[in-house]
Amino acid sequence: MKAINPFEVNGEINEDIYIKLVRDFGLKIIDTNLLNKIKQHTKELHPLIEYGIFFAHRDLDLILSEYENGKPFYLYTGRGPSGEMHLGHLIPFYFTKWLQEKFNVYLLIQITDDEKFLTKNLTEDQVSFYAKQNMLDILSLGFIKGKTFFILDSRNAKILYNLAIKFSKHVTFSQVRSTFGMNESDNIGKIFFPSIQAVPSFILSYLLNKPINCLIPYAIDQDDYFRLTRDVLPKLGYPKPASIVSKFLPSLIGEGKMSSSKKDTSIYLNDSEAEVRKKIFSAFSGGRDTKEEQIKYGADLSKDVPFQIYRILEEDREKVEKVKEEYSSGKMLSGEMKEITYRKVIQFLDELKERREKIKDEIEEYMFDEEKIKKMLLI
Ligand code: TYM
Repeated sequence: MKAINPFEVNGEINEDIYIKLVRDFGLKIIDTNLLNKIKQHTKELHPLIEYGIFFAHRDLDLILSEYENGKPFYLYTGRGPSGEMHLGHLIPFYFTKWLQEKFNVYLLIQITDDEKFLTKNLTEDQVSFYAKQNMLDILSLGFIKGKTFFILDSRNAKILYNLAIKFSKHVTFSQVRSTFGMNESDNIGKIFFPSIQAVPSFILSYLLNKPINCLIPYAIDQDDYFRLTRDVLPKLGYPKPASIVSKFLPSLIGEGKMSSSKKDTSIYLNDSEAEVRKKIFSAFSGGRDTKEEQIKYGADLSKDVPFQIYRILEEDREKVEKVKEEYSSGKMLSGEMKEITYRKVIQFLDELKERREKIKDEIEEYMFDEEKIKKMLLI
């Protein structure tokens, strides 16, 4: 059976499945009208939204209309530190960085070390090690300092707990069971945990004692959390958070998502150049089987994993268009496509490493602190 939830994503995920999920989850497709509305504020579109990777939403139109009428919003996203990060994990952060810059808004990033301790076979020391590594990886994308804060669950436990119990009072076991597919043999921490992931979506409204809109970017596996959150928040007197939802970056073999459980088919931020090269050169190609056929028919870009990675990372749109034209028409061969992608990925990873080195002692300035945030927002 196909499972797509925060704890499990298996099997091939194609367009039909995304459309079914949108319907089942009550999401809306981001249509041209909404794209134009976004563009009015951002001038251009990020490749991740232009190419339909961020493809669905809930109340994004509403948040933007309210923003146009002077009502601010903040962004909230997160990471569960279960290991080193791969390019797939970085997708929502890469897009969130763009949103933050375009709208110049506050951003909360939750690091759910508790979630990964509860749901994976990891010790507290292991999750806290990965939490630190992952926070540095995320910061290496370059978020706005003074407007970006990590809520680290174990460290910010007091405020999270106090708000999570209010939330959990409105959630029954049968709701959690039907939303996440949990059952009686799941540990009780895991059953309570959705209340913790809900908190950052109303924490600023709580601290400031007035409703503040929240927009949450994530890939569709996390949607269960936020459908539940939206059911409960009106009962606590807080606004429902809006969502902007992405598809998965595919695994390098094109089947399923890029995932920590498939190391050989995922590109890790700390992979060596040789590893990246090997992985990209064995990635699933939309090119034809022989050189002659490729020249005659061109590549199928919708299936070509290297091209899909390249077009996200290449900022120069004209270059992307040129590659697209040459590769799909057969002027370019799949080996060349892989070479271009390999170079782009290495350049991207090198830039991250460089920035990571520069900010490695600044992490404390990005940590969430109730009093600090309250003072900052009340001015
Ligand atoms: P985690 O650590 O599993 O994933 C981090 C983020 O990456 C997304 N993601 C992907 N996006 C594109 N392609 C992929 N192959 C891919 N794999 C994972 C996830 O959807 C997620 O957005 N419980 C969360 C942590 C969390 C969170 C949040 C995430 C706490 N609060 C708010 C999003 C929004 C988790 O374990 O994410």
